[in-house]
Amino acid sequence: MSTTTIEISTSNKTQFLHETLAGLQSEPKFMLSKYFYDATGDRIFQQIMEMEEYYLTNAEMEILQNQSAQLSQAISADGTAFDLIELGAGDATKSIHLLKSLLDAKMEFSYFPIDISEHVISDLEENLPKKLPSLDITGLNGDYFDMLQKAAELSHRRKVVLFMGANIGNMTVADAESFCLSLKQLLSPNDLVIIGFDLKKNPQQILAAYNDKGGITRSFNLNLLRRINKELDGDFNIDQFEHYASYDPASGACKSYLISLQNQIVNIGRQVIHFSENEYIHMEISQKYSLEDINKLAAKTGFKPLQSFFDQKHYFVDAIWRVD
Ligand SMILES: C[S@@+](CC[C@H](N)C(=O)[O-])C[C@H]1O[C@@H](n2cnc3c(N)ncnc32)[C@H](O)[C@@H]1O
Repeated sequence: MSTTTIEISTSNKTQFLHETLAGLQSEPKFMLSKYFYDATGDRIFQQIMEMEEYYLTNAEMEILQNQSAQLSQAISADGTAFDLIELGAGDATKSIHLLKSLLDAKMEFSYFPIDISEHVISDLEENLPKKLPSLDITGLNGDYFDMLQKAAELSHRRKVVLFMGANIGNMTVADAESFCLSLKQLLSPNDLVIIGFDLKKNPQQILAAYNDKGGITRSFNLNLLRRINKELDGDFNIDQFEHYASYDPASGACKSYLISLQNQIVNIGRQVIHFSENEYIHMEISQKYSLEDINKLAAKTGFKPLQSFFDQKHYFVDAIWRVD
């Protein structure tokens, strides 16, 4: 067992500032959802995963709990050693089932969880080895592609990239295409990716997951304003912004916004941002896919779909693709 953390710490804050100002100086205004995850954001996201309305976690958890042995077989079909790189690993409560199956099957592999949240990576490195003592883990703290490049430098074996939790849905379809194309550039023929997609379903059910009665998603979104106040010397008046979510069944895009409740001025460091009453900040997209959309995405970006793993209700799919 070994544990190592590699951190890209130097310019994190500067990048957070530049990307936040660029988003708020755009027309329309937007924020990047990767910045939701400070320690408080991580904690609120745990609560989201436990919400009755947030069907995604239970659906994917069911796949991992019940079908990890089959997933593990598909990954290790050719019997060669590999490295398992997980993008946006979070607390790994789902992937731990797969890790356990792979260890039980005596597969030779190292685990590289990647996450932008420093808190997530240190937590994983401290706690996963307690649960899985034989796991070889190297945590990578930073943005997906910076850390994927790091992982590609460290790994000289076949690669299996795990991208669960419908994180791919936090990109527009066009961005998901660019993402998969860039991912393919870093991989070699026969490397695998396993991607979790939230499937298109009843619009009311989808909307409820992003507009819960208890207001947890609301606090998750507003927490980013609090984070900006704390880390970037901002003065957002949190009470003057309201959470709004919408789902468009035609495009499959579920979007969340913060709406300014009045004409107001917000200072971030020395920059001044003007908001009109009812102006929105686009906070996050959660794109939903059909199986046809998923296969199209694979074909367009140079992957061959191998197998699909569904939960019983077919709310969610973990799709295995091979580099074509
Ligand atoms: C929705 S959670 C999913 C966690 C886990 N994969 C699961 O299925 O439960 C998203 C995770 O991805 C991380 N993340 C989001 N954007 C990222 C980025 N651009 N680079 C690296 N990690 C990112 C977040 O910090 C968070 O832990």
